[in-house]
This record gives sequence, C-alpha cells and structure tokens, in this order.
Amino acid sequence: MRAIIQDLKSAVARANATNIRAAFAADPDRFERFSASFGDLLMDYSKTAVNEEILLLLERLAEVGGVAKKREEMFSGVPINFTEGRAVLHTALRNRSNTPVLVEGKDVMPDVNAVLAAMGAFADGIRSGALKGATGKPITDVVNIGIGGSDLGPVMAALALAPYHDGPRAHFVSNVDGAHIADTLKLLDAETTLFIVASKTFTTIETMTNAASARAFIADKLGEAAVKHHFAAVSTALDKVAAFGIESGRIFGFWDWVGGRYSIWSAIGLPLMIAIGPDNFGKFLDGAHAMDKHFRTAPARQNLPMLLGLIGYYHRNVLGYPSRAILPYDQRLLRFPAYLQQLDMESNGKGVTIDGTPVEGNSGPVVWGEPGTNGQHAFYQLIHQGTSIIPAEFMIAANGFEPHLRHQHELLIANCLAQSEALMKGRTLDEAKEQLTSKSMDEAKADFIAPHRVFTGNRPSITFVYDKLTPFALGRLIALYEHRVFVEGVLFRINSFDQWGVELGKELATGLLPVVQGKESVAGHDSSTQGLVTALAGLKA
Ligand code: F6P
Repeated sequence: MRAIIQDLKSAVARANATNIRAAFAADPDRFERFSASFGDLLMDYSKTAVNEEILLLLERLAEVGGVAKKREEMFSGVPINFTEGRAVLHTALRNRSNTPVLVEGKDVMPDVNAVLAAMGAFADGIRSGALKGATGKPITDVVNIGIGGSDLGPVMAALALAPYHDGPRAHFVSNVDGAHIADTLKLLDAETTLFIVASKTFTTIETMTNAASARAFIADKLGEAAVKHHFAAVSTALDKVAAFGIESGRIFGFWDWVGGRYSIWSAIGLPLMIAIGPDNFGKFLDGAHAMDKHFRTAPARQNLPMLLGLIGYYHRNVLGYPSRAILPYDQRLLRFPAYLQQLDMESNGKGVTIDGTPVEGNSGPVVWGEPGTNGQHAFYQLIHQGTSIIPAEFMIAANGFEPHLRHQHELLIANCLAQSEALMKGRTLDEAKEQLTSKSMDEAKADFIAPHRVFTGNRPSITFVYDKLTPFALGRLIALYEHRVFVEGVLFRINSFDQWGVELGKELATGLLPVVQGKESVAGHDSSTQGLVTALAGLKA
C-alpha cells in the first residue's frame, strides 16, 4: 500500500491534479467521467482532484488493501470486530431479502424478524391508542432516553422524516445535564407520556440517570403502579432491563453484533417507527438494503460507497486534508452532520492498526457541518478563503415537501450549486481587480483591495443529488455513509467497530464523582484538576 500511496502522490504532482479548475477547462466531459448514479441518487465527484490515473491507483489500493474481502467478511458474519470478538451485522437488520445470515453457525434472521414484528405491534398499539397510559389516556408524547448511538440515529431520522410523522410527538433526552430532561418534562403530561429507555449496554450513566429521573416523574405524578404503563426499553442486556422493572412485553432486544452507532436499524429505531409508522420504517430499511446490495455487487467505478470511501481516503491520507464538512441543503437533515460525526469519528478515530502497530499517516478526519444555507452565513468563509483545504460534501433533493414554496426550494438548489462552483472556480486576482474597477474604483485602491477578494478555487467538493428525502432515500443515504466509513477503515488498516477511546474519560468521571460531591479528597489528582474542583466547590450555591 505504501508504494501505491507514493504513486498517488507522484500522480497528483505530475498532473497538477489539485488544479481542478484547469481540469474542467481541459475536459468538457469531466462531469460524465467523474460522476456515478444509483437509482435517483447521483454522486458528482468531478469537483475533486481526481483523474483517470488517480482513480485507477485508488482502485488498486482497494484491491491491495483487501476491501472486497473484508466486505464479504462483514456481510457474512465473520467477527471482524476482533478486539471485542464480534461480528458486524447491522446489514442483517435490514436484510429485506431474508436470506440466512449466520453468526457462529446460527441464522440471525428469525430473531431479527421477530423483534421487528414485536416493534411493529407495539408501535401500532401506541399510534392507534390501543396501548394507553395508566389512567386510560392515549399516548401523545414519546421520550427516547439514550445517548450516542442510542440517540443520534433516532433523533436525526425523526427530524429528517418529519413530513411522514403522523404518530405521537417525539422527544429525545440524552445529556446527563439535568437541564435536558427538566426542559423536556416541563412540556409533558405524565398521563400521556411514554418513555423509551434505549441503551445497548443498559449501564451508560447518562441514560440510567435520566431514566431514573423519568421514573420518578411518573411515580410522583401517577404513583408507582403507573410506571409499567409508561416505560419501554431497548437493549442487548435484557437481564439489566428486567431489573429496572420494565415489563417483558415492552422490552425490545438487539444483539452484540450491532454497534451502537450502527443501531438505528434495530429496536433502537423504535421511536422513529412510532413516529412514522411501521410501513415507513420498512421503507427506511428497504433503502439501506438497496445500498447494501449495491455496495456488495457494483463494480468499483459505479459503486457509490466505494468511490466515496476511496476519495475520502485520498483526501485524508494522500492530500493530507484534516477534516471534511457535511453540508446538507436540507433543513431536515439538521442532525445528519452530528450523526455522521459519531459514525465516522468513533469508527475511524483510531491510532493503532489491526496488527497493533501505530497507523502510518492518518486515520479518520474531523467530521463536522451544518445545513446550508445557514452555514454559508457562518463558517463558509473559512472553507472558501481559509488556509486549510476542507473537502465539502453537499446534498440536495430535487423536490421538497412544500410545493407551495417551490420558489424557496429553487433558491436552496441555486445556493447549493453555487457553493460547489465557487469552491472549484474561485476568483483570480485579475478577476477581482476587474470587478472592482468596473464599479469605478480607482486603480490604486483596486490593487490594494483586490487580494482580499481573491478566492484560490480548486477546493474540492462532492455533491449528492436525489429526488426527495423519503424514508427509502434516507435509509439509502445513511447506509452509503456507513459503507464509506467501512472502506476508509479497511484502508487505514484499523478496527472501525470498537471504541476504546471513550473509556478513559468514563472511568475518570466515575472516580471524580465522589470528589465533586465532597465525599473524597481531591489530593492525588493533578494540580489543574485540583484547582478546578476547588474553584467549583467554592462557587457551589
Ligand atoms: O460512549 C460511547 C458509546 O459506547 C457509544 O458507542 C454508544 O453509542 C453510546 O456510548 C451509548 O451506549 P449505550 O447504548 O450502551 O447506552
């Protein structure tokens, strides 16, 4: 791989490949050459610094890096998450073809289907009002209590699919900061509220603490006996859920071969299913399954996750770009960048390879973003003129859900396309000067001001275009990004499916709680921690 990376660097230098603007000028067919589609989903990567030679080298990198082999291992239940001894089978959760998927010789599909059916029955019961609160009133509000993968997926998808939301209102509480649950409960009537406690491990301190507060809320308002009517739970740790006191018919399981950040397809999707209904949730799974089949079978040059992963790797490890911006031109994808942040950074933010040696070069980039057009008026300045190159990933639907506001959607599209064009084309010093003098600025002043109005251009972006943000399209989009993270992880030669990096902070927080509570001495901690604990204690009301 080292030799191919070197070849890639040479190819970039030789072809002056990062001059994307020149590449467009030289090749009128560049878009045809460097775009690919899957159904109505179009990926335009022509505005990145690729050429034929670079793509061939990247395809070679995928071959030598063993991406296809690892992909087959993932889909077929090999325990590729070797540090935890687990298979990685979120794809089985949306395996709509229902072909057997074996984990240690056992087909997981009957269990997957059984949980999906139980979720459907429960969701229908809540949506129809057949399942009521303790006082006989139908449920109007559902509060999901979870964090990380037990929160970000449902909250992101519920927002994204708002036009399909015809069930009870959905709320999401994640932060251990009491403000989060307090502000949420303020809006709610205990008699008509259902809490879903969502935690893969059912030990996560934030979730357990918020769940206890929610339990107290119901018990205070409606009495202990009411609690069972107002709680459901989602977890892999069924014994721990039972110990919390949730009735067995309201517990929805999943399995250790589903990573938290890949769990939206499992029972963790229950709040989404209650919001949009089991049929639409099924279409969401269908979209992901379609992408799975595409990823597994399409040749590299037509394979969207493969292309996205290869270009992502190229940006990070050949061109050295430190971050990537996720810029959906869709207000309802507001939480999509945060969702991808966990998916990508918790998966590929690793420093050790599968051999236990340090990663050569870089692993995953910083992932961040906001919907356009809001981002344009906040941080795009840096993307256009700052000193770091930040590859941008735009996404835009051809159609919104507000036909009476078509004009606004057209403006949205125009802004999205304008940004990628501006990033690529830039504006030269001469063009900047010409623009100023044409507005009757004198030559000397134009010379002085023009450098500030130069855009270097040649800033890479990928644009995704699709028909409409339906449940199918959202499922497909998420699965696309999951597989891109997979491709990059294989090339970084890391295990994308563990997350040991989150452990140390958790351990130290547990140790610091009695110190913060004044039950243990702060002595033994570093002087900064000692100073901070003392300052907070001094300010305590
Ligand atoms: O702290 C990280 C993490 O383990 C994530 O991977 C996970 O999504 C989140 O915490 C929540 O974990 P759980 O679902 O077990 O509560």
